[in-house]
Amino acid sequence: MPLTYSDYLRIPDLLSLQHAQSQPAEHDELLFIIIHQTYELWFKLMLHELDKVKGDLTRGDLYGAIATFQRCRTIMKTLVGQLDILETMTPMNFTSFRARLDTSSGFQSAQFREFEFTLGYKRGAMLPMLPAGPGRDAAEHRLRARSVVDHFYDFLERHGVAIPAPLRARAVTEPSIADADVQDGLFALYKSRPDLAILFELMTDFDEGQQEWRYRHVKVVERTIGSKRGTGGSLGVEFLKKSLFQPAFHDLWAIRHRL
Ligand code: HEM
Repeated sequence: MPLTYSDYLRIPDLLSLQHAQSQPAEHDELLFIIIHQTYELWFKLMLHELDKVKGDLTRGDLYGAIATFQRCRTIMKTLVGQLDILETMTPMNFTSFRARLDTSSGFQSAQFREFEFTLGYKRGAMLPMLPAGPGRDAAEHRLRARSVVDHFYDFLERHGVAIPAPLRARAVTEPSIADADVQDGLFALYKSRPDLAILFELMTDFDEGQQEWRYRHVKVVERTIGSKRGTGGSLGVEFLKKSLFQPAFHDLWAIRHRL
């Protein structure tokens, strides 16, 4: 039997995964479920790509890293763009089934936490928010793994940037931080290596994209639930605002005024 589209992509399985909690099902709950499931699929791909880029950076594969950051940047734009669809759901539509979400919340997205940790935004205190199980284990594994920033240091070192020893000696579970020496090295490479500058600009695009996602998500939340607390138990908008404008690649942002 030749392989069919449906068999290859497991379409019947995929289409059987949307279970509304509201009874009878509220019209907009299907949108709410599909949008979150779609995000989780993109997160899965993003993590796959970021794992590849770590290897590219450490091996010094510039073109590999450029191609992958191009892809990650474009996925990020799609993640931001998808929120437009969700914004067609009014607060009244959402209220009609929100209570049925119980305590479930994006807070419990293990893959989002994996994404943050992979980028070096290591908020270990968020781990206990994840239900025990394979999701939390995967996030914990990434908390304890070297981040994209650590692999970026390997890349910079190959190009003559001396990464300060204390920076290298920091615990991998700590969030990445800005460093003046790394910035001087990056600045010199920007001026002397236009090929490397292409990568740095793509990384900046990507980083702008992940910050944009947080901003747009806060706005979706604000327009949909206002000042209500989150289903995950946080203060909602107030909590989410704390992680706005947090770059993943601090040093790339810190030198913009010098370029
Ligand atoms: C009507 C739409 C949405 C509302 C009202 C909403 C609300 C919230 C709230 C209030 C929080 C704070 C945690 C809590 O107390 O629950 C949160 C966190 C989060 N949400 Fe949403 N959300 C919406 C859509 C989405 C979508 C489409 C995604 C895509 C995956 C998403 C992913 C997340 C993530 C990853 C967090 C954790 C953020 C962090 O810890 O910094 N949310 N959401």
